[in-house]
Amino acid sequence: MAVEAATLAERCRDRFPIFEHQVYINSCSQGALSDSVRAAYQQYLADWDEKGAPWEYWVERQEAARAAFAGLVNAGPDEIAVTTSLSAGVSALASGLRFTRRSKVVLTDWEFPTIGQIWHAQEARGARVSHVPAADDGTIPLEHFERAIDDDTLIVSITHVCYRNGAMLDVPAVVELAHERGALVLLDAFQAIGSLPVDVAGLGVDFLGAGVLKYLLGSAGLGFFYCRRDLVERVWPTQTGWFADENIFAMDHTDYSPARTAARFQSGTPPVPSIYAGIAGIELMQEIGIAATRDHVQTLNAHLLEGLDELQAKVVTPRAPEHRGALICVKSTDAKALVVALGDEGIVTSDRDDNLRISAHCYNTVEDVDTVLAALQRHRKLLA
Ligand SMILES: Cc1ncc(COP(=O)(O)O)c(C=O)c1O
Repeated sequence: MAVEAATLAERCRDRFPIFEHQVYINSCSQGALSDSVRAAYQQYLADWDEKGAPWEYWVERQEAARAAFAGLVNAGPDEIAVTTSLSAGVSALASGLRFTRRSKVVLTDWEFPTIGQIWHAQEARGARVSHVPAADDGTIPLEHFERAIDDDTLIVSITHVCYRNGAMLDVPAVVELAHERGALVLLDAFQAIGSLPVDVAGLGVDFLGAGVLKYLLGSAGLGFFYCRRDLVERVWPTQTGWFADENIFAMDHTDYSPARTAARFQSGTPPVPSIYAGIAGIELMQEIGIAATRDHVQTLNAHLLEGLDELQAKVVTPRAPEHRGALICVKSTDAKALVVALGDEGIVTSDRDDNLRISAHCYNTVEDVDTVLAALQRHRKLLA
């Protein structure tokens, strides 16, 4: 296993120039820049220079991005909206729901702020928002959802992997419960996509939002939103724009005819430069292998956890491999100071709450983990 883990990083690491001068282990914030994503940006500039305003080609690139993401999550292209952020897709969904027959939105305490903010914004439109708390061990047991989801629940909004503690939810179990009780399910897959295989059919979710700038190796400005085919025409987004129209080339300002596909969750002009980069990032991750990356990072994290135990550090990420994503979080007495101290030694990490976040990806090696552990030993007083 350790040999295979080395092979994966060895195969792809030289495509990420940052490793020539830094130990980059912060993919929960942003993936490392690859040669192919850099080349995609250069191609965008070359196309602009050469062709002027090639909008037909750029709209075609949007379709290529849609198809690439659809393939990644096992959906049809007609079930995918190309958005400018995860928030944009989720907001479009929220704007199209009616909180009349059922009014309750159930969300967890693991949600990224944007999710909580979008659902609380719907209180002005009649939504009642209920939060499902995590347990002391950092997981959210199914009983907590059992207590919250009732026959007034319209939608359950969950996150696949928590950005604060790295815990992974048992998504199919929550979906089964929600569906049994007649509720829809939205999954925020931003901290999972690209780090492990995500299959919308296997998970059974109704809606999914994600972006490309973390484990999909793209950059800011491009998100995707999945809506299960049979639900598309049941949602009537009121947050919209001309790229959500049934025929964007009709240029008709006299009515609202949203697309009959998930494109109805789109808005204005697509983020063309980010689309070039996003396609390159998705293709590179598929070439490297997402399932292989999951195994590789699990191996690295097992090694990291062993080392953290030796340092008697307080790991807040659940221990069981099936309850965690790529991210490992460790309690600190001053997480911001610890990130700076590691940064001074050429190690890039990040912090949330009181925790240091260490997130390995396909390009990280056992040596990277050892470098982090050695630095943490030197800064032991900053670990709780
Ligand atoms: C779990 C999760 N959800 C949502 C977001 C934000 O997404 P966006 O800014 O594309 O709306 C992030 C970004 O860090 C995230 O980690």
